[in-house]
Amino acid sequence: MPIVTPLTKLLNIRMPIVQGGMQWVGVPKLVAAVSNAGGLGVLTALTQPSPAALRTAIQETRKMTTKPFGVNITLLPSIKPPDYAGYARAAVEEGVRIFETAGHSPGELIKYFKANGCIVIHKCTTIRHAKSAAKHGVDVLSIDGFECAGHPGEEDIGGLVLLARAAKELQIPYIASGGIADARGYAAALALGAAGINMGTRFMCTVESPIHQNIKEKIVASSEQDTVHIFRTMHNTARVFKNKISMEVVAIERRPGGAKFEDIRELVSGQRGRLVYENGDPDYGIWSAGISVGLINDIPMCEDLLRTMEKGVDEVINDLSSLVVKSKL
Ligand SMILES: Cc1cc2nc3c(=O)[nH]c(=O)nc-3n(C[C@H](O)[C@H](O)[C@H](O)COP(=O)(O)O)c2cc1C
Repeated sequence: MPIVTPLTKLLNIRMPIVQGGMQWVGVPKLVAAVSNAGGLGVLTALTQPSPAALRTAIQETRKMTTKPFGVNITLLPSIKPPDYAGYARAAVEEGVRIFETAGHSPGELIKYFKANGCIVIHKCTTIRHAKSAAKHGVDVLSIDGFECAGHPGEEDIGGLVLLARAAKELQIPYIASGGIADARGYAAALALGAAGINMGTRFMCTVESPIHQNIKEKIVASSEQDTVHIFRTMHNTARVFKNKISMEVVAIERRPGGAKFEDIRELVSGQRGRLVYENGDPDYGIWSAGISVGLINDIPMCEDLLRTMEKGVDEVINDLSSLVVKSKL
């Protein structure tokens, strides 16, 4: 039985499952595969070197799917910020109408997307930020718990509590993000009032994901203890795979007197992280991964993954409803 929620209706998708933006991973092939499988694929704008390259990526995606897909724009602290407005304009001009925004001060971007009739899903790690984004007019909130890959914020609140608070306090639909990789997590999110789920790490480990096979196999072989937080001391925490480089970064951050960004700049370089996915050496640089690595045991096609989750969620919901025993009067 299909799961119909405010998210499936708003986005016109078959399943309320979003593939969150992923630097170096959210490229046309994966995005089209997720959308063709019935979820929402999301292209990562900043993976493309320029707004013009994003246009080409959008056109490539369109050649592979007729289904809806979105574009992620992530606003991160940076000395030389990328041309966010240029990426946004390129995507809107190419006809994209669904955006995932993440990061600091997205107000201007949200205003621009709403003025152009777009749907905005905004990622937040606190209920306070979720409420503020709702005031800016976003359509859906993506509530990222502490379990997530990438930036979990600084307050360390897990999905269970965040989502239960979202159910009580948010007036617009929200989806659950962080730590979900199977039907049980999917069903739990629905039980917590979410209109759907967002997954990153799980989609990284699919046939259509563009990363090196060794890295996919490394994820399969890993447990939930194989991630670590870096940039904690810089108040810009990121959950990444635990490897030689991330452990070195943590050691530098912990040394007496702490560390300046200069001390770790070379180790954490984004280009070095990108090469992990190309050369397949998991120790070559920093790469994002969530604790859901502990739930990932295979490398399926997106179509098979979503079909398994669709069947599984139905079973979990049925099993749960069988726990309710009608009293004999
Ligand atoms: C490899 C990777 C790269 C990511 N890059 C971004 C990014 O550029 N922007 C962003 O908003 N989120 C990024 N994320 C976070 C995901 O969109 C998503 O919120 C997160 O993965 C959800 O947690 P999960 O991995 O436990 O499913 C990334 C996640 C992964 C695994």
